Amino acid sequence: MTEYNVSLRSFNTFGLDVTAKVLSRIGAMNDLQAVISENLKKNEPLLILGGGSNMLFTRNVDGLVLKNELSGIAVTHEDAETITICAGAGVRWHRLVMHCVDHGWGGIENLSLIPGNVGAAPMQNIGAYGVELKDVFHSLEAVHLKTGDVRHFTPSECAFGYRESIFKHSLKGAYIITSVSLKLRKQPQLNTSYGAIGQELESMGVDSPTVKDVSQAVINIRRSKLPDPEKLGNAGSFFKNPVISREQFDTLIGNYPKIPSYPADSKVKLAAGWLIEQCGWKGKVVGKTGSHRDQALVLVNYGGATGAEILQLSEDIMRSVFDTFGVQLEREVNVY
Ligand code: EPU
Repeated sequence: MTEYNVSLRSFNTFGLDVTAKVLSRIGAMNDLQAVISENLKKNEPLLILGGGSNMLFTRNVDGLVLKNELSGIAVTHEDAETITICAGAGVRWHRLVMHCVDHGWGGIENLSLIPGNVGAAPMQNIGAYGVELKDVFHSLEAVHLKTGDVRHFTPSECAFGYRESIFKHSLKGAYIITSVSLKLRKQPQLNTSYGAIGQELESMGVDSPTVKDVSQAVINIRRSKLPDPEKLGNAGSFFKNPVISREQFDTLIGNYPKIPSYPADSKVKLAAGWLIEQCGWKGKVVGKTGSHRDQALVLVNYGGATGAEILQLSEDIMRSVFDTFGVQLEREVNVY
């Protein structure tokens, strides 16, 4: 279905009111092939939109927006221990998590309530509470936006890293992801190593947790800390947690003994939320935008903010973190 001059306000979790010149909703592979061959003739700029949960629009889209609505969840392989499940890229991520949790299949319960759609999950290797998508990823199917060729990607071909994949680098803008396959466990190995999960399970009164209990604990933690995009426009973590050299860390910890840190191969990962809070931004309201009062890493739209205002705030925060700590923050959201 193709529409013209469409507001994208309900299609991005910041609730930014920008307009797309053309919007094409892709509900089936045939629609996609038709749009690709039509667009090849016009050679219009093209933007792919999933759940719009990682997108900061700073201007109208003077071209074609493909809204990925490819649906369906199916079991494609099963043995005594594992189950392989394939989901359409347009399925809401949390819906897939609930489907797996309800069946008792383990692997993505820690990724409960992450906003966005299945197709975006491998793009940025989503992660939370000690689990990343790459831990359960089996393969994905994608279609080349110029040739229409269908290609399957293995885990190594996706080149996953912390909030990274090949689709954010050398293949940026080249493919649209159409489905994602995950390999899950029938006898789950629960990951409750992340401190807050253990505490939450305890306060829920759970001794021997199930997949469902872990999912519920994650949901409770997220609801207590992270604003619901339905109520307050936001895109989750606005920045990535920065990874710095051990030498730089040794200097920093001398000056800031309480700085939270996590080992990251031979380097050290810092908590961007902590750095931002130390610079006095947490809970600060700047016009119609600001850094959230419960999680400084989340920038919010209090209503009527523009993407440019949110971008400006992010730049001011980046400058002040750099001036204070000498650490360069990097945005996690995509800026258009
Ligand atoms: N912290 C502060 N102030 C803040 C926020 C955090 O001091 O305002 C400190 C905390 O006290 C803690 C540390 O920073 O010591 C880490 O905080 P938290 O556990 O909340 O996690 P995070 O590093 O801020 C990351 C992910 C989240 C994910 C959580 C839980 C990134 C960029 N963010 O946040 O992912 O839910 O861990 O695993 O890696 C997302 O990507 O959108 C997202 C929400």
